[in-house]
Amino acid sequence: MKILITGNMGYVGSVLVRRLRESYPDASLMGLDLGYFGNCLSSNGIFPECRLNHQYFGDVRNLSAELLSGVDAVVYLAALSNDPLGHAFEEATLDVNYRSCIRAAKMAKEAEVKSFVFASSCSVYGYAEDGARIEASPVNPLTAYAKSKVWTERDLAPLADGRFKVSCLRFATACGMSDRLRLDLVLNDFVAGAVAYKKISILSDGTPWRPLIHVKDMARAIDWAIRRELTAGGPFLIVNVGDDSWNYQVKDLAEAVAKVIPGVEISINKNAQPDKRSYRVSFEKFKELAPGYTPEVDLITAITELRDGLSVIDFKDEDFRQSRFIRLNILAHLKKQGMLTDNLEWATDTQLPKTTN
Ligand SMILES: NC(=O)c1ccc[n+]([C@@H]2O[C@H](COP(=O)([O-])OP(=O)(O)OC[C@H]3O[C@@H](n4cnc5c(N)ncnc54)[C@H](O)[C@@H]3O)[C@@H](O)[C@H]2O)c1
Repeated sequence: MKILITGNMGYVGSVLVRRLRESYPDASLMGLDLGYFGNCLSSNGIFPECRLNHQYFGDVRNLSAELLSGVDAVVYLAALSNDPLGHAFEEATLDVNYRSCIRAAKMAKEAEVKSFVFASSCSVYGYAEDGARIEASPVNPLTAYAKSKVWTERDLAPLADGRFKVSCLRFATACGMSDRLRLDLVLNDFVAGAVAYKKISILSDGTPWRPLIHVKDMARAIDWAIRRELTAGGPFLIVNVGDDSWNYQVKDLAEAVAKVIPGVEISINKNAQPDKRSYRVSFEKFKELAPGYTPEVDLITAITELRDGLSVIDFKDEDFRQSRFIRLNILAHLKKQGMLTDNLEWATDTQLPKTTN
């Protein structure tokens, strides 16, 4: 078994590699990543990439056919991974998340890869407050990020067949501890605020609905998708991945955090513009197709683990929304330093600013 994971050096990838190493102890696991967040570690453990057989540093926009030789499964995580990044770097978002994914899938099919797993998102539903969305519900992508996911799903569909299985996993918003933590995710942000300065400041009025999933359960779902039989979903599958019980309003999440971390003050932004992203999602189809792989981690465990994980790294940064745990801050910083080009490629030596001794 040979598995290639693109975008493995991020929040989800760091957890996924651990899971796949446990599930496939003898497999050849390979990662391909530009390494934007390589040094944004949030644990005192080993580099997550140590569990791989090979780490390639490269750009999915220049994927070579050679890398796909003999590969059984591709997991496509590489992305500019949220709405603020999509807003700041729209063209790169469409290039990395959408066009390069379709190109990678075509190359994978040509190379006789059997299983292609795409990390899609429930954000494709945009604003949908009139009941839980199922996979057949109309999509309503409101941002470049969400559009990149919808267009990728659309163009992956005709590539799938009995020998090339494609799984589009529409993940709920992730939460939980990872060796490369992100704090630009709602629950992680709340726990960080509670730990750092005993405050949770909700940027919205707290009413938007947001389904969540623990990052370990995302990794379990990807594991399932890699190996699923064609009888479970057919050659081309789109499925919401999460659990019905994890559909929360943002204010409920804040209250749950305050229960686990006592003495926390919650503030709501009463003047906030209505949040355009609000949706409830049905995860019934996933439960039917993958009964042994439905989410296991509950909300209180997720919060407790985050609290403990932050305490292990002595996290106290009250200004964490300006920190290296926010994806946009890192890319904006690297770009400002001249390390990244406008299109978010690493600048070549000749483009880098001269260092002075
Ligand atoms: N975290 C969530 O809440 C969530 C929810 C739904 C879907 N997803 C999807 O899961 C995937 C992983 O998300 P994440 O939270 O780990 O994001 P992340 O930002 O932590 O990781 C993305 C990784 O992709 C890499 N990358 C970016 N551009 C690349 C390029 N051109 N070539 C090679 N590598 C590149 C980055 O260096 C990074 O390591 C993404 O596709 C994301 O859209 C995430």
